[in-house]
Amino acid sequence: MVVAQKLCFLLDGRPIETVAGKTVLEAALDAGVYIPHLCYSPLLEGYGGCRLCLVEIEGVRDPATACTTMARDGMVVRSETDRINALRRATTQFLISEHAGDCLACRANQNCGLQKVARHVGITEMPAGRPEPVEGQIDDSNPFFALDRGKCILCGLCVRICHEVRGRGAIEMLNRGFDSIVAPFGGQTILESVCESCGACVDVCPVGALTAKDETLPPVE
Ligand code: SF4
Ligand code: FES
Repeated sequence: MVVAQKLCFLLDGRPIETVAGKTVLEAALDAGVYIPHLCYSPLLEGYGGCRLCLVEIEGVRDPATACTTMARDGMVVRSETDRINALRRATTQFLISEHAGDCLACRANQNCGLQKVARHVGITEMPAGRPEPVEGQIDDSNPFFALDRGKCILCGLCVRICHEVRGRGAIEMLNRGFDSIVAPFGGQTILESVCESCGACVDVCPVGALTAKDETLPPVE
């Protein structure tokens, strides 16, 4: 039996014990230390897309994403520096400004990854008063769940879990930049796609963009 090599590194002055093969983010979360993140799932490889898990590593000039940086014995990591907090705050402000949601009316309220990150960076003003949905914003064609693109923060987790874990590829990240949306290829509705209603995308969505219509979703295997 191969035993994973133990290692220890410092995170904001606190020793974090882990094993070789874990990322800095995984090791921190395992140890109960929160590093903000929105595009990480333990079911997927690190992706480095949301840039919220940035950390500073002693001896390395530029900040690195903790979800794609492997933990090394003796490394010194800082997650709560002024520089990192300013970067995180700016990213979070941007996500909130693009998020057409009303927290009080959202099913993810109090269980939302974006709210958690916002609290962490000291932002207390969250969206209130939902604007009227624009055409094509909501896809509620599937009997089990709905997609509200106005609340989507484009983390990509739903697309990746559908492709990489479920092997379906029912949804894609279409278009680029500000025009990016989650949708089946070719602009179909989700009901018209190859979606099998497994619910993995709903489970992994960190905000209220993908939500079950009730408790009837089949369990994810
Ligand atoms: Fe991420 Fe949810 Fe948007 Fe998918 S629908 S990209 S999981 S925020
Ligand atoms: Fe690391 Fe998104 S969780 S970049």
